[in-house]
Amino acid sequence: MSGHGTPIPMTSHRSGPLSGVADVPGDKSISHRSLILGALSVGETVITGLLEGEDVLDTAKAMRAFGAEVTRDAAGVWHVHGVGVGGFAEPGHVIDCGNSGTGVRLIMGAMATSPITATFTGDASLNKRPMARVTDPLALFGAQAVGRSGGRLPMTIVGAAEPVPVRYVVPVPSAQVKSAVLLAGLNAPGQTVVIEREATRDHTERMLVGFGAEITTEETDEGRVITLTGQPELRAQTIVVPRDPSSAAFPVCAALIVPGSDVLVPNIGLNPTRAGLFATLREMGADLSYENLREEGGEPVADLRARFSPDLKGIEVPPERAASMIDEYPVLSVVAAYATGETVMRGVKELRVKESDRIEAMAAGLRAGGVEVEDGPDWWIVRGRGHGHVPGGQTCASHLDHRIAMSFLVMGMASTAPVQVDDASPIATSFPIFESLMAQLGADIRRD
Ligand code: S3P
Repeated sequence: MSGHGTPIPMTSHRSGPLSGVADVPGDKSISHRSLILGALSVGETVITGLLEGEDVLDTAKAMRAFGAEVTRDAAGVWHVHGVGVGGFAEPGHVIDCGNSGTGVRLIMGAMATSPITATFTGDASLNKRPMARVTDPLALFGAQAVGRSGGRLPMTIVGAAEPVPVRYVVPVPSAQVKSAVLLAGLNAPGQTVVIEREATRDHTERMLVGFGAEITTEETDEGRVITLTGQPELRAQTIVVPRDPSSAAFPVCAALIVPGSDVLVPNIGLNPTRAGLFATLREMGADLSYENLREEGGEPVADLRARFSPDLKGIEVPPERAASMIDEYPVLSVVAAYATGETVMRGVKELRVKESDRIEAMAAGLRAGGVEVEDGPDWWIVRGRGHGHVPGGQTCASHLDHRIAMSFLVMGMASTAPVQVDDASPIATSFPIFESLMAQLGADIRRD
């Protein structure tokens, strides 16, 4: 778990051209879901390409605590012997989900309709994040939650002994909330219906189909209506996890701003509910192409090729695209600093409740590095300085947030003066090989 050890300060210095192949790790969202759905299935699920970041390792430990047998065979190759829907055992200890909002919220959903009690905690970042968004709908199934004030962890969930199915309109655009409700619905009799007004990542729905659940999605005037028939027998699967577009964002954005760069990032999952950043970068004038577009394991996949793009322009990012690039705004704001003109980002209130308040964290670090930023409750504007005119020279607080740390390290690769991050240790939650991978491409990142 991040944030429990010694901070690791790092400084990113102006780099020569970045070149080569960036093999980024497996998708974090799909990795969590592979372990959880594997644990809820009958038989042995075999996963290859699992992200071995701290967040996912915490979910693996949690699945063991609920009674599944989870073993690692080789790098990225994992086996899960599931206990079946409704088969979770009561954990004998507190479940520590570390830094992971996805892990804790999905697991709470998965256990909330079984007659067991579990207590959840996390690191200083996770223990500040709102959980009522998940425990409110879980209460409709009959589960009870007792946590700290403001619906914060540590928190105990008493699962419903006789769950009832629910119909729930998700009030915030959140795949974690949607997924928690669907996972809870697995062990409720009858049909659980989740309605989302804005489409969020749909890995849970796609994977539930793969595991043999009866689940349909209908586009209606109300939004996307997802209907799940409860108490299926989920069948173990063989899963190949695509590489994470949210991790690919870092070498891609670095290549766009470092002169002379040409980087290939192969096998990236391009599910439309995740690919908003790449559309945005192209609109800004990025030299970014999809090569070898294909489908793997039910998900669109391509090799991304990013080259130095000296004429990036600020744009207004369509707010309806926010959910499909929600984790990518921090690194987009860095690219925006290297563009000319303003980049306007609206409809992004959710950024304030991620691993950190990402608008506040990025705005503070960008301003300290000589970039003008204006922000409000659900919007922010970055005034681009143009290529070659980003001063840098600041120290940024990462606030236990991996994406804040990586974004500022990308910033320092092309700024006039180096950029320091006070603690880069959270990067291990999602992208444990970030430092070596970026070094291989030619980035000059040093531990202080
Ligand atoms: C995730 C959903 C998103 C995202 C997170 C992963 C998921 O969170 O920010 O990194 O795997 O479902 P929200 O559901 O809170 O938007």
